[in-house]
Amino acid sequence: MSVLIKNGKVVTVESEFIADVYCEGEKIVAIGKNLNYKADKVIDASGKLVFPGGIDPHVHLDMPFMGTYSSDDYETGTRAALFGGTTSVIEFILQKQGDTLHNALKTWQEKSIHKAVGDFGYHMAITDFNDDVAKEVVQMIEEEGITSFKTFMAYKGVLMIDDGQMVQLMKVVKKHGGIVTVHATNGDMIDSLITKNLAAGNTKPIYHYLSQPEVTEAEATGRFCDMLYYTGCPGYIVHLTCEGALNAVREKSLKNQKIFVETCSQYLMIDASLYDQEDAAKWVMSPPLRQKKDQEALWSGINQGMIQVVGTDHCPFTLEQKDLGKDNFAKIPNGHPGIEHRIEFMYSEGVRKDKISLNKFIEICSTNAAKIFGMYPKKGTIAIGADADIVVFDPDKEHVISVNTHHMNCDYSGYEGWKVTGKTETVLLRGKIAIENNQCHLKPGDGKFISRGKSSMVI
Ligand code: URP
Ligand code: ZN
Ligand code: ZN
Repeated sequence: MSVLIKNGKVVTVESEFIADVYCEGEKIVAIGKNLNYKADKVIDASGKLVFPGGIDPHVHLDMPFMGTYSSDDYETGTRAALFGGTTSVIEFILQKQGDTLHNALKTWQEKSIHKAVGDFGYHMAITDFNDDVAKEVVQMIEEEGITSFKTFMAYKGVLMIDDGQMVQLMKVVKKHGGIVTVHATNGDMIDSLITKNLAAGNTKPIYHYLSQPEVTEAEATGRFCDMLYYTGCPGYIVHLTCEGALNAVREKSLKNQKIFVETCSQYLMIDASLYDQEDAAKWVMSPPLRQKKDQEALWSGINQGMIQVVGTDHCPFTLEQKDLGKDNFAKIPNGHPGIEHRIEFMYSEGVRKDKISLNKFIEICSTNAAKIFGMYPKKGTIAIGADADIVVFDPDKEHVISVNTHHMNCDYSGYEGWKVTGKTETVLLRGKIAIENNQCHLKPGDGKFISRGKSSMVI
């Protein structure tokens, strides 16, 4: 199959220019003015933006968590992602404490390979580190195309590892060319605040927020950066939410340049005032939403290059699942739906409102994730030889976010009624039409596993 996209404004990190893009098979074959190719399909992109498919490196699909499973699986989640212009995601395999990484990998392959509609990779979450696991870490990097290892400094007894395990893991990962990623909040401090609040009869969702003050994130972030410096390992902080944590990175980066930071679209757009609402459980996530001053710090951090990636931490639960915590905030499954609208939100809230440039938008939504996680330049750019993962985007189209029109398997939207300018119109995944006329043309199994190499952002 060949596709010719004509007359769009092609946008990459470095440039923007009017051109045609010709794709053959899975690849981009030519870029230029008035290309003279006979294609099976021609798309008129006049007045539209043409940019690389989004990469969301932080999603949880069919994730076993807090007594239930996140409500989007690989099929519904990657399809919803495609509708919004995200062609690749990186999801998290969770090692069961006491079990092997290979067993966990097998479980996740069963969840994903025949179901994914869009492309996907895995981070391997290390929840129990020992000498045997160290050997498996090397095998993951060298044999399985899994080069990033997720750690949790919270969720004690389920996912958290201690600092000793963290340092040992970092040493192995550094030696073999991978990267350690982290949920950086102080689990012990948070657990003690939860216990104190529950003992005082404080059971409402707002106490989820009050049990995770900014200092719990700032402290753990700084500690993680110190361990990176000590071991020389590259690291990536997921879902950073607040000024204090960003300042910790700022300070630590004075002597260590191997720290990468992700924030998520929700932390840039909505704030903790939502926890005063009756339906506050919808926004219970970890870390929690923060304050307006944190949003300002995060947008600045993006422009200063301190924050390289905007993901979603997509981890949806239905209202019935959220109800598991109706009498106890600590039982509300943590997470919210976001996979579908990240690109449109960052364009509408970021580019249209003059917070970021068009090139920065591409960098944070696609290119940097590809570079940090070893997929570049196959993914994350519009270039000859790259995978033809392409979004044709109408920059002027206005629409309204609603549960009635979204494609995520979740019976609410955290952004019901939000007016957005800019819409994903047509999406190509490796040269195939994935989304057109508001329809998905791919089926489960069309999404392919992305075997990742070493980070190209680390020397
Ligand atoms: O609330 C969240 N973030 N749920 C998913 C698990 C995690 O911590 O990323
Ligand atoms: Zn997390
Ligand atoms: Zn997460």
